[in-house]
Amino acid sequence: MNRSISNVATPAIAPSILTADFGRLRGQIHEAEAAGVDLIHLDVMDGHFVPNISFGPLVISAIREATTLPLDVHLMIEHPERYIDAFVEAGADLITIHVESTPHPHRAIQQIREQNVEAGIAVNPATPLSAVEELLENVQLVLLMSVNPGYGGQAFIPQTPEKIRKMRSMIDERKLDRVRIEVDGGINRETIRTASAAGADIFVTGSSVYSDREPVSTAVSALRGALGA
Ligand code: DX5
Ligand code: ZN
Repeated sequence: MNRSISNVATPAIAPSILTADFGRLRGQIHEAEAAGVDLIHLDVMDGHFVPNISFGPLVISAIREATTLPLDVHLMIEHPERYIDAFVEAGADLITIHVESTPHPHRAIQQIREQNVEAGIAVNPATPLSAVEELLENVQLVLLMSVNPGYGGQAFIPQTPEKIRKMRSMIDERKLDRVRIEVDGGINRETIRTASAAGADIFVTGSSVYSDREPVSTAVSALRGALGA
């Protein structure tokens, strides 16, 4: 089975389960799958790199059993290199580390690639794109944070589209067209249009998909409609 994120058709919708009902996680994953999402985004938080604590490899293994969709694992943890093997073992298809989380992001990316798993590099809102410029040849994805990481349900930071445009030009100028741009945080029916027009390929959607307001399928269709896809 090819679960490569590089092969996922774009624009792609990647629900984050952070605001899902954890008491019936399998059902919530199936609802997203039935709604036609492209991948599942998994937010791992350690209470150090970000103020919140979420879940780790054990929960990801259970999700791996529940779906054939690609698993996009977003590590918001210090010393990510210590845990990469555990997340590979749990069934991650792509592992994204934060450039701010280790003095040796290049080494951590190498470690991910050596296991034949795709690698992504994430950038916090306050971090300039120059921090990841030297890593672009080594990754399959750049994750631009459109909120400060740690919690679901925050508002999209208005400077993000400009950052997406800059990243798009950097990728295009260097002819790295297989590197995907993912945007994460505060994506809803309005901001998804702006982020898409700026050049993002993959849209992480937490609270706009998993909420008490409407079924997952209605939310996903509305986001697809907003993308015109
Ligand atoms: C933030 C996480 C996001 C977030 C998305 O730290 O990386 O994936 O949970 O949730 P919403 O879409 O609610 O901003
Ligand atoms: Zn995330």
